[in-house]
This record gives sequence, C-alpha cells and structure tokens, in this order.
Amino acid sequence: MNETTRGPAVADKAATTDEPYLELRGVTVRHGERTVVSGIDLTLRPGEFLALLGPSGCGKSSLLQVLAGLARVAGGSLRLDGADATEGLGQRVRVGYVFQDHRLLPWRTVGQNIEIAMKAAGVPKAEWDERIDRFLSMLRVAEHRTAWPMRLSGGQRQRVSIARALAVDPDIVLMDEPFSGLDEVTARAMRQELTRLHETTAVPTLFVTHSIREALFLADRVVILSQGPARVLKTLDVPLVRPRRHEDSALTRLADEVVADVLREWEPTEGPAS
Ligand SMILES: Nc1ncnc2c1ncn2[C@@H]1O[C@H](COP(=O)(O)OP(=O)(O)OP(=O)(O)O)[C@@H](O)[C@H]1O
Ligand SMILES: [Mg+2]
Repeated sequence: MNETTRGPAVADKAATTDEPYLELRGVTVRHGERTVVSGIDLTLRPGEFLALLGPSGCGKSSLLQVLAGLARVAGGSLRLDGADATEGLGQRVRVGYVFQDHRLLPWRTVGQNIEIAMKAAGVPKAEWDERIDRFLSMLRVAEHRTAWPMRLSGGQRQRVSIARALAVDPDIVLMDEPFSGLDEVTARAMRQELTRLHETTAVPTLFVTHSIREALFLADRVVILSQGPARVLKTLDVPLVRPRRHEDSALTRLADEVVADVLREWEPTEGPAS
C-alpha cells in the first residue's frame, strides 16, 4: 500500500477498531540467562500510534528487535492481523524500522542507503527517486542525498534513517527513540511532521521513547513500562485533542501526572537487575 491507496486520514481513522492489528501475549526476551523483558501483553490497533514509554535500560530496544524478527522471543507469542507472527513481523509484512543507532551503511551514500532498503522491500524502481526526494525533504536532509553518512551529524544520520524506514512504504513502523539526538526545536518540527504523516497514512506505529512529553504529544495510547526487566505498568489513553501543541498546558499537566505516577517505579534500583 502507499499513501494514496491508504486513503485519507478520516477514512482510515474511522476504520480503526478495537480488533488488534498486532498482539503481544506474554512476550519475554532474554539476553543469555538474563531476562530483560518479562511477559509483556500489549496490542496495537489498526491505524494506531502507540508509544512505549520506559526508563533507560528497561528493555525497549530488545523488545523492538524481537518484533522485527532480529532476535527470538524467549517466551510468549506475537500475532499479526489474526495470524501467528512469533518469528517476527518482517516474515509477514513490510516493517519500517528506525534503529536507535541508525545503522546506515558507511560505504553507501545517503540516497543509496535508502535505495538498498527499498530494493529489499520490493518497492518498484520507478518510484525510488521520488521517494528518496520526498522523505529526505520531509526530514530536512535533502541536500545530503549524495553525501556519505560519516559526513553527517548524528542528528542528520538519525533523520536519514527515519527517511529510509518510511520510504519502504511500510505496513507497520517501529521507531526506537528516533528524535533523541536532535535539539528540541528540530525534534518538535520532526514530531509535527511525523504526526502529519501518520494522519495521512494511518500506518500502525510503535514508537519507543523515554520522554513522557514526547509520548503524550505523539501517541493515541501510551504503554508505560517498568524498570527492567520490562513489564507493563499501565496503559494510558491520551485524552488530548489533535492537533496537539507542545506548549499546551493540558499536555504539561498530564506529563506532570504521569511523572508523579511513575517516579517511584522508575527510580533506579540498587544492585544488578535479575
Ligand atoms: N546484545 C545484548 N547482550 C546482552 N545484554 C544486552 C544486549 N542488549 C541489551 N542488553 C541489556 O539488556 C537490557 C535492556 O537493554 P535495551 O537496550 O533493550 O534497553 P532500552 O530500554 O532500549 O534502553 P535505552 O532507553 O537506554 O535505549 C540492558 O540492561 C542491556 O544492558
Ligand atoms: Mg534502547
């Protein structure tokens, strides 16, 4: 599907139901003997923007890697569109994955990095040029199309990796703290762009962050995770109307409430985690 065939936001949003698109049942992730994610249940609905909010080191990236099929679940199961997807979502649908550490190939230019991803995803070659241009422009890095990744700043690389994930015309988007390397002004502009894009395409999106305000600004629902090994503390329906504004006092109040709620849970524990 592309943006045109997905249709306008209103139609897609109207199609949003309580039937999950993606369902995690008791998902446990281990690195060796160590459990880093402990029996997570969660759902992502069609067209939904879901934020996974958790403290540093709690297991968010480990969970996304399992979803993408880059690591195996140690327990539990994944279901996608009603069918088993425990081996990873990439086996069944096109996944747009923004890695926390961008993972651009250093020996390919920015444009070539995006081409490689589109080729692997089966995007017709005739669309490559326009897609590269569109998403690099959206992420405000179009002038770096022929540059080597090493010549870019960390934030520019991060934006190229977002462009790469979106250019593959994904069925589902997994984003791992994509704006953490950006200054606040650029990050705000990027969040606005991402919101606009999601309103147009309604591609189900799982967005990992440790920023409470960012989660509340972007998401329809926020799943709040505990200190590692991550488990779900609570799920919050974000009651803020759209379009949202970063300066909105209701957002600030809600963020303060969430902070007060999770403060004790997120306090670093002494000694090594189990
Ligand atoms: N490949 C690995 N091998 C062994 N342990 C790992 C590996 N990757 C991560 N870990 C450990 O698993 C735990 C969870 O790491 P993870 O990267 O998933 O956390 P996170 O929530 O994404 O943190 P952050 O917000 O800092 O990115 C950490 O204690 C980390 O040290
Ligand atoms: Mg991480």
